[in-house]
Amino acid sequence: MHIRLFCLGVLLLSFSCKTSPEVVQGPYFANGLKNGWADQNSIVIWTRLTQEKAAFYEGQPFLEIPRKEMLSLAKNPDVEAIYASQIPTGASLEDMEGYCPGAAGQVRLKYHQLGKENEVVVTKWTEVDSDKDYTHQWKLEGLSAGSTYRLKIYARAKEGSRVSDSISGKFILPPHKEISSDVKFCVVSCHDYNRRDDLENGHKIYPSMTDLKPDFYVHTGDIEYMDKPTPYALTEELVRFKWNRLFSLPFQKKFYNQHTSYFMKDDHDVGFDDSYPGRDYGTVTFERGLEIFDEEQFPSYSKRYKTVRWGKDLQVWIVEGRNYRNQNSLKDGPEKTIWGKEQKQWFFETVTQSDATYKVLITSSPILGPDRSSKNDNLSNATYSYEQGEILSFIKKQKNIFIVNGDRHWQYVTHIKDTNLWEFGCGAGADVHAGGWKQEDFRPEHQFLRVKGGFLSVSVTHNDNPKIQFIHHDVEGNPVNEGTF
Ligand SMILES: [Fe+2]
Repeated sequence: MHIRLFCLGVLLLSFSCKTSPEVVQGPYFANGLKNGWADQNSIVIWTRLTQEKAAFYEGQPFLEIPRKEMLSLAKNPDVEAIYASQIPTGASLEDMEGYCPGAAGQVRLKYHQLGKENEVVVTKWTEVDSDKDYTHQWKLEGLSAGSTYRLKIYARAKEGSRVSDSISGKFILPPHKEISSDVKFCVVSCHDYNRRDDLENGHKIYPSMTDLKPDFYVHTGDIEYMDKPTPYALTEELVRFKWNRLFSLPFQKKFYNQHTSYFMKDDHDVGFDDSYPGRDYGTVTFERGLEIFDEEQFPSYSKRYKTVRWGKDLQVWIVEGRNYRNQNSLKDGPEKTIWGKEQKQWFFETVTQSDATYKVLITSSPILGPDRSSKNDNLSNATYSYEQGEILSFIKKQKNIFIVNGDRHWQYVTHIKDTNLWEFGCGAGADVHAGGWKQEDFRPEHQFLRVKGGFLSVSVTHNDNPKIQFIHHDVEGNPVNEGTF
């Protein structure tokens, strides 16, 4: 047990002797709450119970091992060596910076539509799932389109115990397609705990996005990097460790509590860079990496791809780039895929059926690029020319459709001359995370290029004459490029 835990216990005991017969020592909500997959009538709410109010950020730093050693452990996992090489002698995982253990206990959710405070829905107390890292998810249905909801979740140790913690939040649901309304959303990619730009609080982009008052937000993935050091997450326990450490950061927690979110995933969230089926990371198989993301640490949804209509003028498509791909090492051709047949068919059909004024395809990795010629992981790479051609030849025939993507660590706008093809790369979530492209390498298809961190905001204003505007921001929220259509 940590010394700090012991002290806290003593303090609570001496306090409780005078005031109450019961000592309340958690569980707590150190990882806050997140939501996902909102549509006109439903949303998924996620939370996790923890032993402490926050992660143990005062803990010891992990040891950084050479990349070569990590690669060897990734291929021939030796669990003892994975820990012994990264944790100082005499210490254990619970002594390390960011430790945030889960706790058994029960949770309850209360929610109501804004303005209908007398119609509060209260769920039953439910045990969190100890097999899923002490998390719990609620799928709320029968909700009212275009409304704002307030929610509050409560924790207690067991039946009959007093409430030990609570946390409040908010979400907005999309309006029906007949409704003309202004919409704004933000898109983020690529950040991690070690490269946060505010050491105490997390990533500056979160308060910067809050200032813009977006209706919703999309994280395109690479939310955390399992294959980056301190520690390399070569076991499931370390994967969970990294998620819990990141989601206890104050900026992250505060933002996710208050915003309608869509969480996509990319390679580093699962394991290896450019991961695909068969490319396991230490003891974490590729499939298990997907499962921990999809079923445990983020709001769940069966397909992982979804289209959401946001009023009359906007429809977005959120596509999945890891679950349905086959091996990157395959020869290019009709069988080599990132999207998979079913998802591609769904995309073609739903775009064809849509009468939204503007259509935005949000993808975790680029389709147009340009990307580095050495890469072999996304549709803009030469080794995926076949599927890229299928998707682009369809998009070329559509009107007012735009691609927005994450993955690349630079901000850009690409336009292919004499076509309607536009791609907006949101860039990495912190300046320290930016790189991978040279600022002076401005190609003919580039309309904008900035090798720095930040995010993208997209606004649709309706008035008499609808417009869509794409703004790249720096991490402070300042606009660095604007494009209006
Ligand atoms: Fe990334």
